[in-house]
Formats: sequence, structure tokens, C-alpha cells
Amino acid sequence: MTDPIAFVGSQLDRFQSELYDFLRIPSISAKSEHDGDTRRTAEWLAARLTDAGLTSELVETPGHPIVLAEWRGAPGAPTVLIYGHYDVQPAEPLDEWLSPPFEPTVRDGRLYGRGTADDKGQFYMHVKALESHLATRGSLPINVVVLAEGEEEVGSPNLVPFVEAHRDRLACAVVVISDSGMFAEGLPSLLFSLRGLAYFEIHVKGAKSDLHSGEYGGAVTNPGNALARIIASLHDRDGRVAVPGFYDDVAQWDAETREQIRQLPHDDRAYRAELGVNALSGEAGYGTLERTWIRPTCDVNGILCGYTGEGAKTVLPNRAMAKVSFRLVPNQTPAKVRALFEAHVAKVTPPGVTVEIRELHGGRPWRAKVEGPAFEAAAEALEETFGIRPVPMGAGGSIPIVVDFEGQLGATALLVGFSLPGCNLHAPNEWLPLAYFGNGIETLVRLYSKLGDKLAS
Ligand code: BES
Ligand code: MN
Ligand code: MN
Repeated sequence: MTDPIAFVGSQLDRFQSELYDFLRIPSISAKSEHDGDTRRTAEWLAARLTDAGLTSELVETPGHPIVLAEWRGAPGAPTVLIYGHYDVQPAEPLDEWLSPPFEPTVRDGRLYGRGTADDKGQFYMHVKALESHLATRGSLPINVVVLAEGEEEVGSPNLVPFVEAHRDRLACAVVVISDSGMFAEGLPSLLFSLRGLAYFEIHVKGAKSDLHSGEYGGAVTNPGNALARIIASLHDRDGRVAVPGFYDDVAQWDAETREQIRQLPHDDRAYRAELGVNALSGEAGYGTLERTWIRPTCDVNGILCGYTGEGAKTVLPNRAMAKVSFRLVPNQTPAKVRALFEAHVAKVTPPGVTVEIRELHGGRPWRAKVEGPAFEAAAEALEETFGIRPVPMGAGGSIPIVVDFEGQLGATALLVGFSLPGCNLHAPNEWLPLAYFGNGIETLVRLYSKLGDKLAS
């Protein structure tokens, strides 16, 4: 067989059963009890890359290892960096999964399991697309560096230093990433943006210990009340973030992109129904897609305070904590947002408690130029597979390393994703349309060929 696309069809059953093996290893980067599993996943992945015909190794870091693989047998052809992550989010709440999170299960054409969409299922498409070229042609149309990290879901703490220290080895014209989604079923997409992230914990402390809420209530500042006040001060009535200076660096999007967004087939009523909410809310003056793609936000991710067990306990707690994150857009930076947030919280904190802010992780927002040969290659590859020209779209989520790849390597990032809205990323019952595993591999087989053609010097 000499046609890599035909090879994909003939090997799809095997490709799928390998993917199931990949998905079965619980590579939960956030939990140290799974450090062994996470390493085993990296070793498994490196072995599959070797099987595919690349040279692979594990690069140790202070955290989870980086899987690095290379194939440089096409002198004169462009070099492409393929990035993804083999770690996954914790599976909790476990009792809401209809089938076990680490036992891949197909129901109604959907492959369910943690990591099916984010990102093992999508990353493995690249591994199999590379194999399909090498097995049929004995070569690739491009030179390739494959980099899979095991810490994306915990903020990539060790990847930035690695990229900085290995700029020569990672040098490339284009970075291809499949860790995002399509706009809708049957409608492929290319990303023009990712939001950034600034994530904090607010710790509020009051009296030496918990107190009787009848004896002391009214005379002592309750950290729970104080935290509620701080949180309430983060937004105004128009749904805007009320931290002074927060919007100073927010770039206004161009009229053309905003018009493209308006053209997309989005229906607020269907969106509401799908999410099970009776109304949508957000920053006044912007639509739902704009609010989630090109406008910054602030959200409470968790709150801890007081007695939450069975029955009533009349207690005045002496501490409270909230996790609060901001999604950022160009040209905001996590560092500036931190300074503004700290100043604001200091100003609104009532007397009688002390507040400490801890930064968890951050990442800068990314905006693409949606034109040029790499973008055109991806548009053609998607159109050949899905029969329709991809639409440009933004993403509300974050992939912090993308900005560093572009900045450190001088490369263009290309985000070609195959999950769908509603795929339950980070949630119970994560899934990927099973057919998209094969469609994705075919698209990437075509993409590599087209990148080889269009970027040839
Ligand atoms: N793949 C996601 C990001 C994503 C989701 C991009 C949907 C586009 C569409 C990634 O694995 C992720 O979850 N990132 C985290 C950030 C990280 C610092 C924990 C996020 O966005 O919360
Ligand atoms: Mn991801
Ligand atoms: Mn994720």
C-alpha cells in the first residue's frame, strides 16, 4: 500500500485499540498518587512514536517527563513542531460517569473516557498520521519534532524553561496543535485566538479560632461575610469586571473578525437549552461568542468556608478561601492583572480580617494571523476531509505555551482541533465523536503533505 489515506482506513481498528490503551492509563498530572501512571503513559507514548518510525526519548523535568520525538529525514523541507499533552484532568465527580473514566467505552458513536478529547485522543491522531506516511512512503513530507508534555493541565510549569533552553532543537516554521474543537458537528474550524489565564486563591483570616455565632456575631468580622463582599465587588451591574484598570490593556477586536463571529450559526436559545440554564448573562454589549472568545472575564472556581455538614451549626468561622480566575485577552498580562487584583482586594477588604492572595498559574492570551501558507494548508486539508471550508473561530480556553512557542521559536501556531462543543472537557462523561478519530488522522496526513508543499523554500 502506498497511499497513506488508504492505510488509515485499513489500520483504523488497530489505531483505535491502541488509543484505548493510551486512555486506560490514568495520567492525572495534578495528583501525586498517579505520578507512576503519568510516567508510564509517557513511556508508552514514546514507544508508540518509536514504533511509528521516529527517534524518541523522555526528557526529565522537576515534574512529569516531556516526550520528545524527531524525524529529520527531509533535507530542505520545512520543520513542523507537533505539540500536545498526555496528562489529563482528575475524573471527579466519579459517580456521575456513566462508564468508568479510564475504561474507554463507545455509546452512540461517541467514545467516552477521560482524555478522549483533551487531549490524548487528539494528540494520538498526530502519532497515527505520522505512522501512516512513514509506513506507506518510507518518509515524511516535512521534518518533524513531536513534543508531548505531562503538565499542561497543571499550568505547564516546566515547559517554558525547556523551550527557552532548547530553542535550536525545537526550531521550526510552524507549530501544529490539536487540543481545541470544531465550531459544530460537521463544521471544521481553525482558531484565531485563545484566552489567557490568571488564577488566584484569596485566603481571608479572622479571629484566633472559630467562635459561637450568637456570642460573638455582630461584634467580630466574619471572614465568610468579608469574602462574599470581596467577591461581590469583582463585577458591576453591567457584567463588567470591576477591578479598576482591568480593561486598560484590552485590545478592541477588528470589525472584520467581529462580523465573521456574527456570521457563525449560533443560537442563544439552543445554547441555553443545552446547558440547562434559564438565562444567559455576561458583559453588556457583547454576544455569547464574543463574551467567551474575545472578552476577558472573572470567575469564582471554588469557595471554602464554615460548617457545611449535616444540620445547623451556629458558628462564626475564622477563615474563608476562594479560588478566583480571570480569563484574559490581548494585550492583558497575568502579572499586571495580579497587581490590579491585589490593589482592589486590599481596598475592599473590611477591617477585622486579613487577606492573603496566592497566585496559582497564569498564561498569556494568543491571537493568530488567520492567513498565510500554513493556514491555507490547514484550511485545504480540513475541507478535503469534511467537505466544507473551515470557519475561523476563537476559543475561551487557554493553552499557555502557544505564545512562548511563537515568541521563542519565531514560528506560526496552527490550532486544528477535532472535539465538539459539549464534549465535556474536564467534566464527567468526556467524549470524542469516534468517527473524528479517523477523520482527524486523515486531515493531519493531508496537512503534513500540504505544509511540505506550501512551505517549501
Ligand atoms: N485543551 C484545553 C484548552 C482549550 C479548551 C482550548 C477548549 C480550546 C478549547 C487545555 O487542556 C486546558 O484545559 N487548559 C486550561 C489551562 C491550564 C493552565 C490549566 C484551561 O483552559 O483551563
Ligand atoms: Mn488540552
Ligand atoms: Mn484541559
